Amino acid sequence: MITQQQQQQQIDQYHDQGFLLIEDIFTKEEIHLMNKELPSILEDDSPRKVKESNGEIRSYYGAHQVNDIYKRLSSKKKLIDPVMQILESKVYIHQTKINFKKALRGEWWEWHQDYPYWKIEDGMTSPRVISVMIYLDDVTEFNGPLMVIPGSHKSGIASFDDKQKFTSNVEKATWTGANLKYTIDRSILKKGFEEDNVISVPGKAGSALFFHGNIFHASNCNISPFDRKTYIVTYNSVNNVLDRVEKERPEYLSERDVTPIIPLDDTTFYTQLENSI
Ligand code: SIN
Ligand code: MN
Repeated sequence: MITQQQQQQQIDQYHDQGFLLIEDIFTKEEIHLMNKELPSILEDDSPRKVKESNGEIRSYYGAHQVNDIYKRLSSKKKLIDPVMQILESKVYIHQTKINFKKALRGEWWEWHQDYPYWKIEDGMTSPRVISVMIYLDDVTEFNGPLMVIPGSHKSGIASFDDKQKFTSNVEKATWTGANLKYTIDRSILKKGFEEDNVISVPGKAGSALFFHGNIFHASNCNISPFDRKTYIVTYNSVNNVLDRVEKERPEYLSERDVTPIIPLDDTTFYTQLENSI
């Protein structure tokens, strides 16, 4: 248990730096449960599943929509309470993805901000949105941890539409491959590197990294012999409406049902789990 003062310090750190790592949000048992579900989730051969250019699985979108363990653990009180405190409102899930970053094979994520995708592609009106990266494996300096530029979330939108880079029609249709559509302007990035410094955020499995929709972030390839699986849940404030867009993206990329999440305490989670076995 942490005190109210410590909780406030965490929230202040998030607003100041644009990210916050909290360790031990998930127990070993919960991480084991999530990892155990992966083979059955991956049996689904749909556009939710995205491959690396080398054929490995890169990401799976919307696991919480198809899998009960992911659905319920995404509502865990220990996770939702800080999110609601930071956003000062009830929240719903806008998007989730599992990033696999396989040992020796997992590819990179270029420097980008997330909010421009949600604003331009989905009509999200403000960056009052937060993503939480849940570590399904230990994340170290060597298996491609997320890198961030602290404080860069205060820069507003610094990305541009890098159309020339697209190689395949699948990427063009979904913007989910390694060639990202909106990347950060090089001179702005350079300034961030020089003035604010880049840091990486390693942590044990079960940790959760909360990060702002506008923070500059990226990650390197995984050339270690250990997988770096993470599950990223993007929570949006129920008041941060999505405007109409010409062509709505599928629900596994952009949820339009804003029914608020009801935080689930441990007792309820484990009772439901026993009943479902
Ligand atoms: C992301 O930027 O959404 C994912 C980055 C990563 O998995 O390292
Ligand atoms: Mn991102």
